[in-house]
Amino acid sequence: MIKKAVYILLSECIEYQDTEVENENYLPIFKKIYSQKIVHVYIKKGVKQEVIISLLNQLDYFTDFTHTLTFLLDKNREYRLFYSLVGWFDTWHRIMPWRTTPSLYGTWVSEIMLQQTQVVTVINYYNRFMKRFPTIFDLANANENEVLLYWQGLGYYSRARNLHKCAKIVVEKYNGVFPSDIKELVKLPGIGPYTSGAIRSIGYNQKASAIDGNVTRILTRVYAYTKDSKSKEAYLFYENMLERLLIDEYSKFNQALMDLGALICKGKKPNCLLCPIEPFCDTTKLKMTEKIPMILPKKSKVVEHYNSIIYKKNNTYFIEYRAGQGMLKNMWGTLLIEGSVISYQSKLQPIKHVFTHKIWKIQPYIVDYLGESLPKGEFVKVSHFQEFPIAKAFQKIIYQIQESEGTN
Ligand code: ADE
Repeated sequence: MIKKAVYILLSECIEYQDTEVENENYLPIFKKIYSQKIVHVYIKKGVKQEVIISLLNQLDYFTDFTHTLTFLLDKNREYRLFYSLVGWFDTWHRIMPWRTTPSLYGTWVSEIMLQQTQVVTVINYYNRFMKRFPTIFDLANANENEVLLYWQGLGYYSRARNLHKCAKIVVEKYNGVFPSDIKELVKLPGIGPYTSGAIRSIGYNQKASAIDGNVTRILTRVYAYTKDSKSKEAYLFYENMLERLLIDEYSKFNQALMDLGALICKGKKPNCLLCPIEPFCDTTKLKMTEKIPMILPKKSKVVEHYNSIIYKKNNTYFIEYRAGQGMLKNMWGTLLIEGSVISYQSKLQPIKHVFTHKIWKIQPYIVDYLGESLPKGEFVKVSHFQEFPIAKAFQKIIYQIQESEGTN
């Protein structure tokens, strides 16, 4: 059971209280978790620093004073928030393969994979990818089809294509070492403001922000930002605030924000009780945690209807190579024909695939091949499907074909 303790550092003594301090004469200085106990420490405004330090020494809970002392040198809210958060991260950070053996290459690959995909899913993909392409040179030398195969299932395949293109450029132009300069970084394929900020801060420990959903949620809450959290104006606000918060240890601080967002300051039901920066959070004070960030009504997604004709010849099925432009470019999939359901009995079930901005509804049919003209593609045996980077949108159809042949 977690117990709560509140300490107040007065000018001469430490007072223990059971309730939160709401009086504006007291400043929260930190909150830490020590052996099942959440300890809040406040100081009375105006108490001298030497007194605070000697009083803190009497608190036998505190074994590690480094952070505490540093932020007491500056009583500014951002300092106190910064040191509370990195202190929390030292103990509670998540273990991830790109953190265990950090490298610039690993930072970049993981950041690209983590866009739109959860950490738990990425870990396996990352390990498999790094085993096959352990250096940026291996990636640059591979063919795109193989890179896509290792990406298969992560979705958003333009990420993999850009990753590959980017590896080639970094090898050719920068000898395999990512530039640290923001102007050079953002010229590379697939690297925008977020990824360049992550590479610079996590990889090079430079002062740079990496603003993602976790970071915006934490900042809107800390500063009780009640306007549209996705607007340009909001983005400038985050940049300004981070400029003040990025005090030192930029790599650690940005990763601490990511972990805090994932573990504690979650979208639904944030765990404020365990939050190390709750003493500095305006939203908690206002009791508006569930209302901030403000969620604006979502635009509804366009629904597109398709039939999918899977031609069968002997024991093989036709899959198309999606060359050229359009969705899922350079991936493989079953043949799509735009339009609503045709009146033709099918033993395959309709499927639905949800993208960020649209929904595909597909009715698949297996049809005997009678020499119709076909786009670029191949007739493939069911047992060979896994050799092709087949886009996730088509996997449910492929699965049904495999099932109908009894290979699953
Ligand atoms: N989300 C995006 N990048 C991350 C990282 N480096 N660590 C944890 N979560 C993340």
